[in-house]
Amino acid sequence: MHPLVIRFIKASLIWFALASTFGMLLTIPATRDALFGLGGVPGRMHGHMMLAGFMSNIVIGVAYHILPRFLGQELHSYPTGYLHFWTGNIGLVGLALAFLIKGVSALLPVFGVTVGVSFLLFVYNIWSTFTASEKGEMRA
Ligand code: HEM
Ligand code: HEM
Repeated sequence: MHPLVIRFIKASLIWFALASTFGMLLTIPATRDALFGLGGVPGRMHGHMMLAGFMSNIVIGVAYHILPRFLGQELHSYPTGYLHFWTGNIGLVGLALAFLIKGVSALLPVFGVTVGVSFLLFVYNIWSTFTASEKGEMRA
């Protein structure tokens, strides 16, 4: 398995652990009140840690592994894959904090756009891998 794939899978597991812990804290009255006391929307933070952290990272990791293999084609760009990994996961830490804490108005657009752009890098990378494979098949 390529180290990039392992990174995505491990990040996914870390997000799952964090989001589950956070979900549990949202069920306990004292910690629930404390989290709501920060003025943001802690359920939204938990939801995005689960969906954009755990679910997206695991799907992306498996896709980076399996799609190039199905196509018999090297992934278009591993550097772009790493850029996607770091912008996506560092961005999601910021996005999660933006949901949790009310008042810092720049957090949501800055980190929201960072994570969104990271997803677009994934689309570009996989799309280009398909294109390269189709061109190869036309030559063959
Ligand atoms: C450890 C297991 C889990 C616990 C204890 C838990 C707990 C909670 C709680 C208490 C809420 C309501 C938050 C509120 O009052 O605003 C919530 C919302 C939510 N949870 Fe979980 N959850 C768990 C697992 C999951 C999983 C596996 C997913 C998805 C993969 C998920 C996705 C969501 C979403 C999308 C919301 C709605 C967020 C929102 O309203 O903005 N949760 N969860
Ligand atoms: C680029 C990354 C993302 C950004 C910037 C983002 C941002 C947001 C924002 C700002 C809201 C609140 C909308 C409102 O005010 O009504 C929202 C809601 C929601 N998002 Fe995302 N999101 C992202 C990725 C995702 C992903 C990958 C999923 C699922 C796989 C997801 C699932 C949801 C759901 C279910 C809601 C509605 C529940 C709630 O209010 O928490 N989001 N998102």
